[in-house]
Amino acid sequence: DKGTYPFYMLKEIDEQPNVMRQLASVYLAENGNPVIDPELLEAMQAADRIYIVGAGTSYHAGLVGARLLENLAHVPTEVHVSSEFAYENPILSDNPFFIFLSQSGETADSREVLVNVNNSGYPSLTITNVQNSTLSREATYTLLLHAGPEIAVASTKAYTAQIALEAILAKALGEVEGQIVAQNFDIRQQLGLVATGMQAIIDEKQELEKLSNDYLMDTARAFYIGRGIDYTVSLEAALKLKEISYVQAEGFASGELKHGTIALIEDGTPVIGIITQEKTAGLTRSNLVETKSRGAHIMTIVRQGLAQPDDTIVIPDVEELLTPLLSVVPAQLLAYYTSLNKGLDVDKPRNLAKSVTVE
Ligand code: F6R
Repeated sequence: DKGTYPFYMLKEIDEQPNVMRQLASVYLAENGNPVIDPELLEAMQAADRIYIVGAGTSYHAGLVGARLLENLAHVPTEVHVSSEFAYENPILSDNPFFIFLSQSGETADSREVLVNVNNSGYPSLTITNVQNSTLSREATYTLLLHAGPEIAVASTKAYTAQIALEAILAKALGEVEGQIVAQNFDIRQQLGLVATGMQAIIDEKQELEKLSNDYLMDTARAFYIGRGIDYTVSLEAALKLKEISYVQAEGFASGELKHGTIALIEDGTPVIGIITQEKTAGLTRSNLVETKSRGAHIMTIVRQGLAQPDDTIVIPDVEELLTPLLSVVPAQLLAYYTSLNKGLDVDKPRNLAKSVTVE
């Protein structure tokens, strides 16, 4: 039930702080330690490489998950689009472990990979929002997102829930492997900061509606740019804008722009920079300036600790590995308001279905 909300998407965006709290209460003990099936952790420990598989938004959540697993658990991790992986002949490591990310648990492309994985006898985990879904039944292990039903076609709370659960899993795996970074990673405190940070952004939604009017309502194309983990969020941010507002948006690695794509920048082209990582903040800022000098209408989404006076959207500070949980929220709201004010059906964009059960 939408209650007083005009569309499910806005309701689901608003639910994200509670989803973070819910995941903490399900998967963290009183003392903040992860509560994850020890057998699952053993199976992951036995792996020499983790393969994350997903489609669309779930693939984008996987891109963040790989960084979490590599940083906190030091296990090499690859991320693959399921429709591609199913028909390549990838050379796997000796002891692979597969993680399937799927909100619905029914995506046919991802299932095709799981069938192959099962035929080869490899262990797997499905992270899904739907209990007893196909991918959850057919994988060796399952973890539930506990995000509540996601009705809007454009995925929002499933993305942030997937990332938060990947963080808990990476912390748990890192701890059993004796990684100091994992031991020092206070996931409970961080998820608390994330929940209040999300709420602070959501409370500014009128500001985001104005920005959508200024930047996105009258444009045929737009760019989100960033580096590293910010680049992965720019892919998700662009997907949100494309699918519900029909703006041709592209997420781009900001350093790659000058190698060709900058030719598309014209007077007034919106370029939105995501800046949350200390190491690359200066570089992304200079890439933004390059686009501005070619006429781009630039906007920034910046983590507090890196903010400068003329930044557009400032998000609260959290651990750098968890910034996608906050930086994606303004992008979700920008997409929402652009679609809403164009008079489109936000929850049911043209040509799309909630779960894609054909290959
Ligand atoms: C985008 C979106 C899709 C899904 C994709 C995978 O907003 O919802 O890109 O993320 O179809 O779906 P699941 O996660 O159900 O496997």
